[in-house]
Amino acid sequence: MGVFMYRILAHVFREINCERLLVLFPVASSLLLLVLVACGPTPSPTKELLQGDAARGAQLFTQAINGAPACSTCHSITGATQVGPGFQGFANTAALRVPKMSAHDYAYTSITQPASYIVSGFTNSMFAQYAQRLNPQEIKDLIAYLLTL
Ligand code: HEC
Repeated sequence: MGVFMYRILAHVFREINCERLLVLFPVASSLLLLVLVACGPTPSPTKELLQGDAARGAQLFTQAINGAPACSTCHSITGATQVGPGFQGFANTAALRVPKMSAHDYAYTSITQPASYIVSGFTNSMFAQYAQRLNPQEIKDLIAYLLTL
């Protein structure tokens, strides 16, 4: 590829009588390569940080966080219905709730925008401010936990 480009440029520069510019080509292309390497995808620490921690999620589930009520005030982890649905078998339920939506995405949407999908037989009474009160890591941890149920 590089050699091919070089030949084309050599031809062009000869045509326009400016072969001196050719010297610049290797310099310019190594610079470009440097830029590409520097800007290329690097392992992102943020992504690793945002892996959900189910054990932490289990703790968060029963804690009031940042002024928001604990999930466990309305949800059991058995099949028992409280204010909201029980979470026994949630990983399976979540995968089937909305066509073409993964269990993870369904859980995420349910937590951050509870009104976007109302489980049949329930009303839109879930606390609606979790997206503002929980940080992204806490949301990931809760989802990881729910998907173990
Ligand atoms: C004030 C009561 C209340 C609190 C607190 C609450 N929820 Fe809910 N939640 C509900 C109700 C009611 C529903 C059913 C209506 C709906 O789908 O929005 C629901 C639905 C859900 C669903 C969908 C369940 C299903 O079977 O499809 C998920 C997931 C969920 N909540 C997660 C959470 C998490 C995680 C927390 C804590 C961060 C939480 N909820 C806190 C009341 C609550």
